[in-house]
Amino acid sequence: MLTGREIQSLIDSIHGDAVPLLGSGHVADYIPELAKADPNKLGIAVATVDGSVFKTGNAEESFSIQSISKVFALTLALGKVGDHLWHRVGREPAGTPFDSIVQLEHELGVPRNPFINAGALIVTDVLLAGHQPKETIGQILEFVRFVANDDTIAIDPAVARSETEHGYRNRALANFMRAFGTVRHPVDLVLGVYFHQCAIAMDCCQLAKSGLFLAGGGRVPHLKAGVVSKTRARRINALMLTCGQYDGSGDFAFRVGLPSKSGVSGGILAIVPGVASIAVWSPALNAEGNSLIGTHVLEQIATRAGWSIF
Ligand code: DON
Repeated sequence: MLTGREIQSLIDSIHGDAVPLLGSGHVADYIPELAKADPNKLGIAVATVDGSVFKTGNAEESFSIQSISKVFALTLALGKVGDHLWHRVGREPAGTPFDSIVQLEHELGVPRNPFINAGALIVTDVLLAGHQPKETIGQILEFVRFVANDDTIAIDPAVARSETEHGYRNRALANFMRAFGTVRHPVDLVLGVYFHQCAIAMDCCQLAKSGLFLAGGGRVPHLKAGVVSKTRARRINALMLTCGQYDGSGDFAFRVGLPSKSGVSGGILAIVPGVASIAVWSPALNAEGNSLIGTHVLEQIATRAGWSIF
């Protein structure tokens, strides 16, 4: 077990080593608001299960968490319908890019897992049942604030608007699944919730804290009761390991060996079960749409701290 001082000096050193690498990769540009991101940013935060937070670089600058929000939406949907969720969405790696439509044609509109966009839209559809879109957006935001113990977390309206105007592939996915009947609510309502959950903005410190319940076997330091059961935390971590980096999940397991979820804005949340929750942010992406330098930083942390589930 590393001391706090050792964790701080480790992330400072890894940050320093990574700065010269900034400039490789490409910032996502299919949502105009995301294209404005500065590729030279790099933030790292580590929240340990005892409640301490260590940070370095641009760890206190907010960014929209994008697909990392799928972890929180999944947790809420499991809380709402339990294992019935698995009748609506699979739990196998897709082996396709995050926004792919090809598998839906062969598998009758049932997405492979809850982390590809199609699967996340089904999760949103599940959360919408019995609620207005505004209530569902509010529930997701409240849940994130609750687990992070931070009521200042908010949605970036410019990002939500930008994606509403330009989210052509998500619109196609939702319409395609609606044709199969696997999306049950009007497409515009499902997309409205999904685009707003993706636009939840956090900095690395807030994001690391929001993942602590998955590092703590369902428990967080500021709450007496657990957020989810130990079994549910373990299963969410398993899905993050196998599907959290899309068709880069195998390579990420090989290099880092931690459950994780990436977002197209360059954030990655990684979980060290029993030890810590790590958030990194660097906007330039690799070919799979995951942060290039963020992945490198996590590989360094996992290797140098000996933090891996393998
Ligand atoms: O669905 C989208 O296009 C985005 N709002 C989120 C995608 C995303 O973050 C993919 N991850 N790398």
